[in-house]
Amino acid sequence: MTNRLQATDLSLRHAPRTWGDRIALRTVKLMRRFADAFFSKRYGHRAVVLETVAAVPGMVGGLLQHLKALRHIRDDQGWIRELLDEAENERMHLMTFVQIAQPTRLERTIILLGQAVFYNAYFWLYLFAPRIAHRIVGYLEEEAVVSYSQFLDEIDAGRTENPPAPQIAIAYWHLAPEARLRDVVIAVRADEAGHRDRNHQMADSLAAG
Ligand SMILES: [Fe+2]
Ligand SMILES: [Fe+2]
Repeated sequence: MTNRLQATDLSLRHAPRTWGDRIALRTVKLMRRFADAFFSKRYGHRAVVLETVAAVPGMVGGLLQHLKALRHIRDDQGWIRELLDEAENERMHLMTFVQIAQPTRLERTIILLGQAVFYNAYFWLYLFAPRIAHRIVGYLEEEAVVSYSQFLDEIDAGRTENPPAPQIAIAYWHLAPEARLRDVVIAVRADEAGHRDRNHQMADSLAAG
């Protein structure tokens, strides 16, 4: 964990090279605008709602890579396990942040509708254009890193409370018993940077055939 925290370049941005990359980037920028308009600086609520979305692509990608490996009767190169792990990691982000902020009734409705739309859209996208699907996740994770950095800025400026870290987070990231929300956000941000890099790499390797 510590190594990855130090090794990951948080400011890394993938420059779009193909029309597929540009579609992926535009899609993500549009989603970002909606999220910014809706949540503004309510970072706890933002984290809860968006982590319910973030935990979908890994599961869909894992499922479709599994089916592909069966269809072509060939090795998956470890992708299935890795994508399922990503989904589980995102679900742990959700279980952590729900200890910090409880979603409102409206947010719970958005979560339901969002899942219905996003799961289906991502499934079909991944089925026919897995490279673009991974690129979208890569760009989404770039935005997640930015959002969690802004969350940290709010905590550091004293505009957002910095309560003790939830027990589930201390256990999951092996944090110190006296860890606080700030430490959790740093750990989550490192996870997102890792997802960012792996999804861009997967898109690259699909592009390379
Ligand atoms: Fe996440
Ligand atoms: Fe992520």
